[in-house]
Amino acid sequence: MRWKTRILAVCIVWVAGLLLAMGISYVGDRYTGEAQLAAPSATPDVVARGAYLAGLGDCAACHSIPGEPPYSGGLRMVTPIGAIYTTNITPDPIHGIGRFSLADFDRALRFGVAGGHTLYPAMPFTSYYNTTPGDVAALYAYFRQGVPAAVVPNRPSEIPFPLSMRWPLTYWRWLFAPKPTPFQPSAGLNAEVARGAYFVEGLGHCGECHTPRAITMQLKATTPKNGSAYLSGAVIENFFAPSLRNGGPGTLGDWGVEELAQFLKGGASSKGIAFGSMRDVIVHSTQYMSDADALAAAKYLKSIRSDHDGEASPFVYDPAVHNALKNGDASKPGSMAYLDSCAACHRPDGMGYDRVFPRLAGNGVVQAENPISLISIILQGSSTPRTGGAPAQFVMPSFAKRLSDQDLADLVNFIRTSWGNHASSTTIGDVARVRKAMRPNE
Ligand code: HEC
Ligand code: HEC
Ligand code: HEC
Repeated sequence: MRWKTRILAVCIVWVAGLLLAMGISYVGDRYTGEAQLAAPSATPDVVARGAYLAGLGDCAACHSIPGEPPYSGGLRMVTPIGAIYTTNITPDPIHGIGRFSLADFDRALRFGVAGGHTLYPAMPFTSYYNTTPGDVAALYAYFRQGVPAAVVPNRPSEIPFPLSMRWPLTYWRWLFAPKPTPFQPSAGLNAEVARGAYFVEGLGHCGECHTPRAITMQLKATTPKNGSAYLSGAVIENFFAPSLRNGGPGTLGDWGVEELAQFLKGGASSKGIAFGSMRDVIVHSTQYMSDADALAAAKYLKSIRSDHDGEASPFVYDPAVHNALKNGDASKPGSMAYLDSCAACHRPDGMGYDRVFPRLAGNGVVQAENPISLISIILQGSSTPRTGGAPAQFVMPSFAKRLSDQDLADLVNFIRTSWGNHASSTTIGDVARVRKAMRPNE
């Protein structure tokens, strides 16, 4: 039968194509990092630089857990096929990375291979790939000499056999992981913006949360050069990490460079206060950036835009809803819930109190295309990040018990369309889905 022959032919061509693609990727996949590495010279300055870079790379967020020695691993990370644990990266020779040569360390950091196997991309080598040889050597010096060895064994993963076999990860890496290439600024980028780009695209791994992933889980873009998906916003653990590009509502279009630098250093600006996983990024990582580096990162972020991002439109405050509330008119659905539950802190005019209770009028998180952050923060509550610069904490309570799915959908729609905000509508189903996804921690 001819159709059978045809299907067979298509399958053969398809498999051959796949094998060819894998073959080509394999040939291009060999680790050749040694050639790029500088000989490690672990002077106190280099170790200090390594400590600073470990802060920028937020290694502690994953490799340290409360109550255990720093960098001794053990954080449980849930992947689609089961949970894995981060590893001990202290210089302990048995349980840690004490026997790693500089090249071994580089291979893990930028290439995603350690002990002969590919690492789960939960370790963000897909962003760290651009680290310069000098900075790899400084990080290595820090993890050898600046961090005390901890005798804490690694924990086995909870991924069941046969999914626990790592060879599919190797294929994945061949096909999708960016090849380790020390950062090269685009021609014409000024030195300060280039430094910001190096940090944001690389060690800062902002794209791991803020860039959407393809169905095969790789980031859709790792720099603005390979697509306007770069930093265009993505869902991460019941929150939406919003677009960090520059365009209309829901992007950083109306943030100033100073505000952005202030947010990275202190977790708060007059545009918003960090919550969800961004709070941890601030607390463990970006608060330690030098003022000059925070400014460089902000300038770089402000340079990212393409025609897809829409026109930056300055927010225009609309007093209609506030006037209605003042006159006792709570007919707009969600008004009463807002007055009862939110207005005491965020005020009836939606303007909040600068850097204490964030304003909801003209707010990027509130107007993001995906309402999941707004729903999650109302359900979970939050507290402002405690940083060296802002030791006091302000708390937003959880409303999970007080508001039904219907109340919450009305409230979310009220906030997303009041005071000049413009965002798409949210359904009771959207709310129910978030509530269900959060249930284990509720
Ligand atoms: C988002 C979480 C995350 C961050 C941030 C992170 N790591 Fe990892 N790292 C992991 C996970 C998970 C593994 C184990 C992966 C596996 O078992 O396949 C790992 C493995 C490693 C390994 C391999 C160790 C071994 O014994 O196999 C090294 C080295 C390492 N990380 C260094 C670092 C450094 C240095 C930084 C900061 C620049 C860092 N990591 C930041 C999650 C992270
Ligand atoms: C672990 C995930 C994660 C990483 C890594 C991460 N972010 Fe975020 N980010 C989020 C989430 C979730 C939000 C939404 C909550 C909020 O606004 O605080 C967010 C919000 C933000 C906001 C506020 C946007 C707005 O419109 O209010 C800025 C600015 C930001 N991130 C910048 C960065 C930069 C720069 C980096 C890299 C240094 C980074 N983020 C890395 C998860 C992450
Ligand atoms: C007791 C004061 C208080 C009340 C009541 C309160 N909030 Fe908050 N809200 C805060 C604080 C403090 C933050 C900052 C938390 C953080 O960033 O971790 C915040 C943050 C937010 C944010 C994040 C905005 C941003 O850009 O950072 C949203 C959205 C929000 N609240 C909505 C609401 C809604 C809706 C209600 C009513 C259901 C409400 N809040 C009730 C204090 C309050």
